[in-house]
Amino acid sequence: MLKHQYSPGIALLIQLASILMVSLIAIYQPLFDWSIFEWSCIQGLLAGITSYYLRLPVWWILINLVFTPLIITTLAFSTSPLWFLLLFTCLALIYGKTYKTQVPLYLSSKNVSTVIATLLPEQQQFSFIDLGSGCGGLLSNLAHNHKNGEFYGIESAPLPFIISKIRNMVRTSRCKVFWGDFWQHDFSKYNIVYAYLSPVPMQSLWQKATREMRPGSLLISNTFVIPGIAPFKSIQLNDFSKSTLYLWKIS
Ligand SMILES: C[S@@+](CC[C@H](N)C(=O)[O-])C[C@H]1O[C@@H](n2cnc3c(N)ncnc32)[C@H](O)[C@@H]1O
Repeated sequence: MLKHQYSPGIALLIQLASILMVSLIAIYQPLFDWSIFEWSCIQGLLAGITSYYLRLPVWWILINLVFTPLIITTLAFSTSPLWFLLLFTCLALIYGKTYKTQVPLYLSSKNVSTVIATLLPEQQQFSFIDLGSGCGGLLSNLAHNHKNGEFYGIESAPLPFIISKIRNMVRTSRCKVFWGDFWQHDFSKYNIVYAYLSPVPMQSLWQKATREMRPGSLLISNTFVIPGIAPFKSIQLNDFSKSTLYLWKIS
């Protein structure tokens, strides 16, 4: 796979090149009298297939596939530009840092909370952190049923962070969520560290975890493995994404 930090630039180049190519074909070929929407679908297909063959991450393949057809479709409705501004702002506040972190927002399923709840100590005090806590759903579910635990989350995207703060207030949950970068955060005070990230940071996460986490503490990763390090346990879940939880004990 291509180095992930180049993906946004490559995706943009694919978009521009395929728009140029399909526009030239549409203008100069005499055979097909297609609508602009139909040409945009051809362009989307070309951009999607090229992204696939250049082995871009799956979200860039999808974005390139639907980007232009969606723009053409939305332009067909006479929607106020303010809605686009609002949508753009929300997306920027959720995904704006993804080019840097290589970890987009997607949420753990309810099933994940249920299974993680069975892994937490029943009586002893413990502390738990969700690295990149998203909208705080997992933390809030766990904190609700485990009064013997301290639950922390750290999130770098502003909008999910604000949502998790509001969720905490509404549910009077005892979790503490911080806005920040977990790479700058010390893991040593946590008994359990949970991560649902992407394949990109897993090797570095392992290095940080083994450097900072105390012996006997637990690292749990949803879906993404650490290359070359076998987990001591894995739990296959029966949720919509058929996710697997991988567990490593720090020695
Ligand atoms: C796949 S989502 C998981 C959300 C939540 N933990 C859950 O399981 O439902 C990953 C989250 O990590 C956040 N993130 C990525 N890199 C981060 C970093 N270095 N520091 C803090 N948050 C980060 C992203 O903004 C995103 O919200």
